[in-house]
Amino acid sequence: MNATQLFDLSGRAALVSGASSGIGLHLAQLLAGAGAAVALAARRTDRLREAVVELQAQGCNACPVPLDVTRGPDIEGAWTQAEAQLGQPIDILVNNAGILYAERFVSQDPDEVARLFDTNLKGAFLVAQEAARRMAGRGGGSIINVASTAGLRAGGHLSSYGAAKAGLIHLTRVMALELAHRGVRVNAVCPGNMKTDMHTAFEERGFDDSILRRIPMRRFGEPQDLDGVVLLLTSQAGRYMTGTVIPVDGGQSLSWM
Ligand code: NAI
Repeated sequence: MNATQLFDLSGRAALVSGASSGIGLHLAQLLAGAGAAVALAARRTDRLREAVVELQAQGCNACPVPLDVTRGPDIEGAWTQAEAQLGQPIDILVNNAGILYAERFVSQDPDEVARLFDTNLKGAFLVAQEAARRMAGRGGGSIINVASTAGLRAGGHLSSYGAAKAGLIHLTRVMALELAHRGVRVNAVCPGNMKTDMHTAFEERGFDDSILRRIPMRRFGEPQDLDGVVLLLTSQAGRYMTGTVIPVDGGQSLSWM
């Protein structure tokens, strides 16, 4: 197998959650470009449809799937719909849907905290569980949980967000342990600060300069910075990797200053 074949995703099929914007949208486009059929799942279906039309115009097999990860009972149906529309079983999940809630610990609002955990931890758990059940029954697959450097190190104002992402990292390891013998690989990617819609909350509060000073590479990340690791973990190139937790953060998680 040569280097190009190693990363080729032809014949594979992926579901990307939170694919209506930012990292999820970009990764859906990346996987489609590498040859996978891709289901773009999120709540904002108008945006998904636009992205799907563009992908189809490039000759890709892509479909939109309405999915709110906080609505547990809907997840199985969304998955069934995705596989029916793509016409093949899905063997890659990019478990990416997430929200940000940044507030001092003592001021965190219980309803916002519940919404955060429902989306970033319970929602991610249930989507991964549906994926694992299906993939394990068919001989395997690859799951990438999109965590965060906030789950690796303490970040001010990020108590619930960081705790949920730390939980997702631990979940990744337990899933990897339980599913390895069934051919399902589970890995986590931890982006640092990336300039997406989510980042505007920090930007608006004037945090950009102080964040930049803590990034050794002195620039914010972009969704494209995740391309290499996502292709590695989803393709044959990463076939012996499971349970890994990979920061992609310009060195941000290395140091406290
Ligand atoms: P974004 O706000 O552009 O994208 C988040 C996506 O998740 C959107 O498509 C949104 O509609 C979707 N989503 C939110 N709640 C949902 C729900 N209940 N059901 C289905 N979809 C839902 O932000 P971004 O940056 O692209 O975030 C993607 C992932 O990357 C998130 O899990 C986030 O925590 C993580 N991340 C982002 C970082 C950043 O600096 N932007 C840093 C580290 C991790």
